[in-house]
Amino acid sequence: MKAVRIHEFGGPDVLRLEDLPTPDPARDEVLVQVRASSVNPVDYKIRRGGYLREDQLPLTLGRDIAGVVSRCGEAVTTLKPGDAVYAMLPRDKGGYAQFVSVPAALCAPKPARLDFVQAAAVPLAALTAWQGLFTQGGLLDGQTVLIHGASGGVGHFAVQLAAGRGAMVIATCAGQDHDFVRGLGAATVVDYKAQDFREAVRAVDLVLDLVGGETQDRSWDVVRRGGLLVSTVGEPDQAKAAAREAMGLTYLTEPDGAQLAQITGLIDERRIIPHIDRVFPLEASDQAERRLEREHVRGKIVLQVA
Ligand SMILES: NC(=O)c1ccc[n+]([C@@H]2O[C@H](COP(=O)([O-])OP(=O)(O)OC[C@H]3O[C@@H](n4cnc5c(N)ncnc54)[C@H](OP(=O)(O)O)[C@@H]3O)[C@@H](O)[C@H]2O)c1
Repeated sequence: MKAVRIHEFGGPDVLRLEDLPTPDPARDEVLVQVRASSVNPVDYKIRRGGYLREDQLPLTLGRDIAGVVSRCGEAVTTLKPGDAVYAMLPRDKGGYAQFVSVPAALCAPKPARLDFVQAAAVPLAALTAWQGLFTQGGLLDGQTVLIHGASGGVGHFAVQLAAGRGAMVIATCAGQDHDFVRGLGAATVVDYKAQDFREAVRAVDLVLDLVGGETQDRSWDVVRRGGLLVSTVGEPDQAKAAAREAMGLTYLTEPDGAQLAQITGLIDERRIIPHIDRVFPLEASDQAERRLEREHVRGKIVLQVA
């Protein structure tokens, strides 16, 4: 099978399309013929170095897949060959490949409403939004949430999920994305390039920080007392949280087939939808990563594999 691997850390030019043996599924795994994968910042962050050690190379990048089950391990009872599935892969698997073996428990039915390219855009980003808002953030109907980075892969799902839960969504993004983010359900949109969000926002229950740095720092001024800041990008400053009588935490998104199945339900009920920025063939994974890393992206970048 073809797979894109890295043998060293560096720029997009270290991505190599190679021939590898097709994996055998373990007892609790299914072998999936990958139809599409998607690109997440974690892929270029791993590729650039600093996340993993040299002795963990070579490795296949990619944490998202949508495809068709081609074989099942002997302990798998929930799936059968021919089933259309999608999944966020665990850290030791790579989705930029024609086949990948995946624990059956991490797979969910592909939303019927989506094709494979659209479905591959969903797992990691939507699970990150779900876990940040609900598992970590405990967001409730009627609360107010500030979402930084609302036009990106995670943010565009977060806006839809939060609005669908009945929260009032305030979003930060570039001015060119305002109509897009309002259309996803944000009540208020702030252009992060033109305005300090502190002028427009007060006393939110929850901040979902997908940006970090000084954006996170300034967010303490708009969290209500007893409120919460949840970040995907950096450990919140606990002294600043305490000064505000608020809480701050960071988390790593975990693959979760049951949560993903709930997301499938929301997609098929037309309550959330992935937005695809651009599709590249597997052979052009270097261009796909370069775009996500260096250019303005609205929603998700997908790799078409078959
Ligand atoms: N902890 C975890 O497990 C986990 C899981 C998923 C993601 N993450 C991290 O979360 C971050 C977001 O992920 P993603 O997939 O959504 O990335 P993405 O698709 O690249 O989106 C990031 C978005 O942030 C916007 N942005 C940049 N600077 C901003 C600012 N100052 N204020 C408001 N928006 C700003 C960008 O818009 P412009 O194009 O206009 O700059 C872009 O739309 C990444 O750093 C990623 O590594 C962590």
